[in-house]
Amino acid sequence: MEGVTVVRHPLVQHKLSLMRDKERSTSNFRRLVREIAMLLAYEVTRELPMTTERIETPLEAMDAPMIEGKKLVLAPILRAGLALADGMLELIPSARVAHVGLYRDHDTLEAVEYFFKAPTDLADRLVIVTDPMLATANSAVAAIERLKARGAKDLRYVCLLAAPEGVARLRAAHPDVPIWTAAIDSHLNDKGYIVPGLGDAGDRIYGTR
Ligand code: PRP
Ligand code: URA
Repeated sequence: MEGVTVVRHPLVQHKLSLMRDKERSTSNFRRLVREIAMLLAYEVTRELPMTTERIETPLEAMDAPMIEGKKLVLAPILRAGLALADGMLELIPSARVAHVGLYRDHDTLEAVEYFFKAPTDLADRLVIVTDPMLATANSAVAAIERLKARGAKDLRYVCLLAAPEGVARLRAAHPDVPIWTAAIDSHLNDKGYIVPGLGDAGDRIYGTR
């Protein structure tokens, strides 16, 4: 599907399968999120524009390739998106962070905002929204609307697992925002959970089940 990249790298797929296992411990689950986050960061930044800078190696001067232009903002959707952003920060330590606090109402599945704090210059930055789970996409659509209202113009969305319904909804609501995911599962169940999925990502990361 246009605008959707499924990262099929064997390391990503293997780690995702480990995470799906309901017997996986909280500490293992959290470590796996960080590891997959680094691999997804590698993919989502693959096409960043490059430039060269003149540097001196110990042997001679050279025009060395460097990332050009806009600085990055990671925008985790709390809580679970924070673990994904933390892993990405290991590879992109200079990125700024915009925290988008949303929870999904258990009955209506609507996204409810409880916190928002972002750098003021979002318009000048590439904003990478992170959240492990794209289910109905209510949270993703609301977070991106909020970031756009604060000036963001160049956005990407990264998750671990998506439902086909969520992918279609997010593409329809924000066709300018490409999606990276490690897998697109079968469907949503009647409670809005991704099937087969991995359960409640926030609860599994933070041990709050
Ligand atoms: C989960 C998940 C997403 C959202 C996805 O968060 O991390 O943010 O649900 O569902 P949606 O696509 O149907 O909106 P949750 O609301 O459970 O909050 P948490 O991260 O604090 O656990
Ligand atoms: N949020 C989760 O954490 N898991 C799902 O399957 C759906 C929404």
